[in-house]
Amino acid sequence: MADYVLAIDQGTTSTRAIVFDHSGLIVETGQIEHEQIFPKAGWVEHDANEIWRNTREVVGLALTRANLTFRDIVAVGITNQRETAVVWDRTTGQPVYNAIVWQDTRTQKIADDLGALGGGADRYKDKVGLPLATYFSGPKVKWILDNVDGAREKAERGDLLFGNTDAWVVWNMTGGADGGIHVTDPTNASRTMLMNLDTLSWNEEIAADMGIPMSMLPEIRSSSEVYGHGREGGMVPGVPIAGILGDQQAATFGQACFEVGNAKNTYGTGNFMLLNTGTEPILSKNGLLTTVGYKIGDQPTVYALEGSIAVSGSLVQWLRDNLGLISSAPEIEKLAATVEDNGGAYFVPAFSGLFAPYWRSDARGALVGLTRYVNKGHIARAVLEATAFQTREVLDAMNADSGVDLTELKVDGGMVANETLMQFQADILGVPVIRPKVAETTALGAAYAAGIAVGFWNGEQDVIDNWAEDKRWTPSMDDAERDRQYRLWKKAVTKTLDWVD
Ligand code: G3P
Repeated sequence: MADYVLAIDQGTTSTRAIVFDHSGLIVETGQIEHEQIFPKAGWVEHDANEIWRNTREVVGLALTRANLTFRDIVAVGITNQRETAVVWDRTTGQPVYNAIVWQDTRTQKIADDLGALGGGADRYKDKVGLPLATYFSGPKVKWILDNVDGAREKAERGDLLFGNTDAWVVWNMTGGADGGIHVTDPTNASRTMLMNLDTLSWNEEIAADMGIPMSMLPEIRSSSEVYGHGREGGMVPGVPIAGILGDQQAATFGQACFEVGNAKNTYGTGNFMLLNTGTEPILSKNGLLTTVGYKIGDQPTVYALEGSIAVSGSLVQWLRDNLGLISSAPEIEKLAATVEDNGGAYFVPAFSGLFAPYWRSDARGALVGLTRYVNKGHIARAVLEATAFQTREVLDAMNADSGVDLTELKVDGGMVANETLMQFQADILGVPVIRPKVAETTALGAAYAAGIAVGFWNGEQDVIDNWAEDKRWTPSMDDAERDRQYRLWKKAVTKTLDWVD
């Protein structure tokens, strides 16, 4: 009898496979980073073949480390970096171009031109819940069709397929060019700018505006059902592939945010706060995205408001890789602890422009407030604080949109191991910050979606029962100091705008 669920988390910096047991606890993990390709300023690409190779390898690693085989796995759930666009040839199975990553800003002109057709940045917002911005997949697909030799003709002949990395991984796992299934779920589809939020179907007019043939688009299925099975001769032959959730929605599910008003914040490459708003999509007036939270089988769709922050953990990596101020990411905490405060320095990491709540592609990063007094410890602190300040901006927008103030925030993701950051986060928000025992809630959420589809778990109540608190940070900063620091942060943000010519 198979006793475990396998989750594959195809993220921005790495791909992981995690084996979970019935109590939702991690049994074993395999993880491999992939190359971040920066062909020019503002461009970010991944090699989709490398991602697929790593996916196979991490599954092997996790199963071997757990001393299990595919026969012990009852179902596989997929979760993924969203918006990153892969376009591949359905006959050869080869991508026609590198995957264009969600952080990439090359589609600025495409977004501007679409807005100029009428309606500006909000042209499609009431249908898809998103502003025209470089973040989303549709314009990235258009860029590939416009710029890769022969791609548009092939696409029009029906030879090319598009997907976020969930669709790419599932297509390959289920047979690739030999009968792989081409599917996605509504959480991923809701990040393309091509899906009607209310009907969960592709919007042909928007696809036509972007010159994207409908034949390229995956079938939209629910987030929790059996889509197909692992291919014969593959890593999980015959095992049901039974869950797909974009990574942020997966974390929301894994954090058991099932009630209207429940929210979580995930600290990954970027930061993403999602608030469950129930079974009707609510359009934001404060710079948040309207997105699908999850859809379990044929149950009603649950929607969310999302505050997306492009750069948080990746700023720590930048400090490590581009400046060499630390040699490993966790070292930042030690460096930050060499000083009492930020020494007046504020770092606004607008590397991909500014996402929520600003949506300003013309912004670029700035480190302000410098004097001779500032040393690398202060900069390390400013780097950590940037994540907390950006989160405060998003929380304020959530409170304004929902009309109800959040009273606590569930957190997860890699950076929540950083105690300095978590305490500062609680201080700057003025509400408690709570970390669950299993902080890998992204993979966990995908595992639950798959396990629920095959009856391994009964439903949401099992997720709620398995969720357990690990640690809680309560605010200790006085109001005047919180207001002073936040005011300076807001001032720093103004220095980043209108930078791009
Ligand atoms: O929208 C982008 C997001 O899905 C990426 O998440 O965890 O890879 O930073 P992460």
